Amino acid sequence: MKKASIAIVEPCAALLPGYADALRRGWSPNTMRDVSADELAAVEADGRAFLDDLTANRGTIKHADGSETPRLPSRLFWISDGEFSGSIGLRFQPGSEELPHFVPGHIGYTIVPWKQRRGYATAALGLILPVARAEGLSRVTVSCDADNEASEKVIVANGGVLVEEVLRDAETGRAKLIFRIAT
Ligand SMILES: CC(C)(COP(=O)(O)OP(=O)(O)OC[C@H]1O[C@@H](n2cnc3c(N)ncnc32)[C@H](O)[C@@H]1OP(=O)(O)O)[C@@H](O)C(=O)NCCC(=O)NCCS
Repeated sequence: MKKASIAIVEPCAALLPGYADALRRGWSPNTMRDVSADELAAVEADGRAFLDDLTANRGTIKHADGSETPRLPSRLFWISDGEFSGSIGLRFQPGSEELPHFVPGHIGYTIVPWKQRRGYATAALGLILPVARAEGLSRVTVSCDADNEASEKVIVANGGVLVEEVLRDAETGRAKLIFRIAT
């Protein structure tokens, strides 16, 4: 596949209309929970405050069982080909390469359906690895559902080495693959 010409940028007002449009089309930045309606309401209420909240690194994460834990430090980027195309985030525990049991990986990504299969996720993962390195991580853990062929290819194309196969993930109930990538 030809190398995609994309950038990863911090969430910004210039791309916010494209982000809102993606939410309107039913795309959810959270792949575990459909948050499109909630986020759209927040963007429409106050776009600036929404952007501030998105990058503020505060608050809690809600789990499938309803429990909440403090949000880990994270770096969130939007993927841009000139238009909003998807998002990719890094979360980590400062000073450690390990993750709490409820965090499936250091990096998560999603591409809006109408821009998939153009190499965007592969390029975006390549671009976030130096960010992880700059945060002190020499390697990252990235996981995907065992049947997510596209995500597996994205990880392997970026040097991912399979370290574990989980038959039934406690959070999702699905089989998953866990990879390590040297940054
Ligand atoms: C997984 C996802 C991020 C891939 O994004 P993408 O930009 O389409 O991926 P790329 O274009 O970089 O493609 C990577 C490889 O997967 C293949 N691929 C992409 N979509 C595919 C699909 N639906 N089925 C099978 N293979 C697929 C591509 O052909 C490419 O293969 P190649 O390297 O052999 O050429 C995207 O499908 C998505 O957002 N899915 C929903 C959210 C998600 O699953 N996120 C990952 C959570 S771990």
